[in-house]
Amino acid sequence: MSRLGQDTPSHTIMVTGGAGFIGTNFILHWLAPEFRRVINLDKLTYAGNPNNLSHISNSRYSLLIGDICDRELVAHVLRTYNPRAIVHFAAESHVDRSIHSPFDFVKTNVDGTFSLLEACRLHWISLDPKQRAIFRFVHISTDEVYGSLSSNEAPFSEHSRYAPSSPYSASKAAADHLVRAWWTTYGLPTITLNCSNNYGPFQFPEKLVPLMILRALAGQTLPVYGDGGHVRDWLLVTDFCRAIDLVLQHGAAGSYYNVGGQCERTNAQVVQTICEILDREKPRVDGNSYDKQLTFVSDRPGHDRRYAIDFSKIQRDLDWRPERSFRAGIEQTIRWYLENEEWVTQVTSGAYLQWIDKNYVLRSANRS
Ligand code: NAD
Ligand code: TYD
Repeated sequence: MSRLGQDTPSHTIMVTGGAGFIGTNFILHWLAPEFRRVINLDKLTYAGNPNNLSHISNSRYSLLIGDICDRELVAHVLRTYNPRAIVHFAAESHVDRSIHSPFDFVKTNVDGTFSLLEACRLHWISLDPKQRAIFRFVHISTDEVYGSLSSNEAPFSEHSRYAPSSPYSASKAAADHLVRAWWTTYGLPTITLNCSNNYGPFQFPEKLVPLMILRALAGQTLPVYGDGGHVRDWLLVTDFCRAIDLVLQHGAAGSYYNVGGQCERTNAQVVQTICEILDREKPRVDGNSYDKQLTFVSDRPGHDRRYAIDFSKIQRDLDWRPERSFRAGIEQTIRWYLENEEWVTQVTSGAYLQWIDKNYVLRSANRS
């Protein structure tokens, strides 16, 4: 255990999965004011990268390598650091991987969330009334728990019915239900955020945006599933981090917030935007556009057609709204990947190449 945090619990939070994409961005955001501290409990799966945050002083940040399923470890960390809140990011997060190997998704997303809730509940009831009143368990979830929308349906609100389609979204839905039950039954002060697709720096390049940026630059095909007409709502990760910070400070116990970018795009449009920006920032040597590399490939089974988010509740209650436009956000993201070659080289070796083989080599080109 490091020197961090025992003396100032009200400025210390615990994060799970902070070595992943959103967790890394959130920790950087949270630590901007000098007085704040973070304990990051992360198992360091393929998606966790300890180097993302290794430059931060260990008087303000501590990485504890461990599994959220290990309830005794979590209890020990809570007793030692007495954080005023937990932000729970840790998850298996990639839909395509959940189709190939669902076991890890149920283990971490369902069993892991259950273990964490129990450890937090037992810790929380041991606190004095003042600390108990300010404690928060912020659960990070996804819009995918609501399933698929048709083109003319209203966006998902906090009251939409849960109808998950993939092993990933089903495991996140199960976790959301556990979180709700721990509030309703035990009064554990939870807050759940259901957010749309994030993009930005530090995203592992198995997800659409970084995968397309890096494959374009490498001269490889840009594999769009099905007809490319599937719609996602896109949010720059730093906008989501602001929402989490607001909720941590002002969110009411037992509340739910949908968070989105007011930015519906088809996958083909997303890839086209990436190509246009790359054509300007780093033109191909042959003078052709990167969109020449776009290929339609066979679809993902159970592929949800459309997600869209109604974020009016968080806008009304906490005055949050997305700040960055999609084009500006994608430009910023592309520049980050161009400027961080070392990071890219490190995460795209070994096991990453095996995943690319597994997911794409057998995906036939879809010319229909
Ligand atoms: P990610 O896959 O990049 O990172 C997940 C992190 O969790 C990694 O650091 C990994 O090592 C860690 N982890 C995995 N299993 C663990 C375990 N058993 N114990 C401890 N640590 C473990 O994920 P992300 O994209 O940063 O997503 C973070 C959270 O946000 C997830 O809960 C995800 O469902 C949710 N979410 C993501 C998006 C998105 O677009 N990325 C959108 C909405 C919600
Ligand atoms: P992804 O980044 O995996 O996020 P999610 O499935 O959680 O929304 O995928 C975003 C969209 O992009 C989704 O509709 C699937 C599609 N997609 C492709 O067309 N090709 C790809 O290679 C990948 C990874 C995703």
